[in-house]
Amino acid sequence: MKVSPSLLSANFANLTPELEMINRSQADYLHLDVMDGVFVPNISFGFPVMKDVAKVCRKPLDVHLMIVEPQKWISQVRDLGAEIMNVHQEACLHLHSCVQQIHRAGMKAGVTICPATPVSTLVDIIEDVDLVLIMSVNPGFGGQPFIEHSVKKVAELRRLIDSTRSHALIEVDGGVNAETGKQLAEAGADILVAGSYVFKAPDPEAAITTLCNL
Ligand code: DX5
Ligand code: ZN
Repeated sequence: MKVSPSLLSANFANLTPELEMINRSQADYLHLDVMDGVFVPNISFGFPVMKDVAKVCRKPLDVHLMIVEPQKWISQVRDLGAEIMNVHQEACLHLHSCVQQIHRAGMKAGVTICPATPVSTLVDIIEDVDLVLIMSVNPGFGGQPFIEHSVKKVAELRRLIDSTRSHALIEVDGGVNAETGKQLAEAGADILVAGSYVFKAPDPEAAITTLCNL
């Protein structure tokens, strides 16, 4: 299993040791949650913070934009050196065009769906994306309980990907821990995002290893 720890649950008053822990760990990515107070009812951090984070972090950046009109920010995300740019299906009027622009900027394009958005809305984009991010909580906050229905959505997405020429990876975000992570692994997830399970753990590096071993 690939693991993308979410910095949202880290200590923002002292990020360097948190990032050094991620660098030492088996994590495959660093997940960065950008919120605008419009698409979601919270505001997290933006480009000035992420620029400094990118200087210290040696893992590929997995940027999750919970913002309206994410297509306006493609060049700024590229300038961070991000590997994956995740945009919400619900936030993009012209999703296909947005995916094309992310590719032209040299990044992997991820499309994210909220808990109430069906997997079937991805049928006409699935062969064009590198990743689908399934939200297993409502976006906006760390530490929320896992929505069990997400496991069925992962299995349905796995079937959709396997029945097409899609090479998309399945990433899941929200309420992930060793138990929910195991269910998601069995349903066909490729990448697990984890915020509080990692950063609130007595041994965050060991928590990452536990998820990697699922
Ligand atoms: C929520 C964010 C998540 C968040 C997950 O809107 O997208 O990445 O950090 O936090 P946990 O793992 O605590 O549910
Ligand atoms: Zn996220």
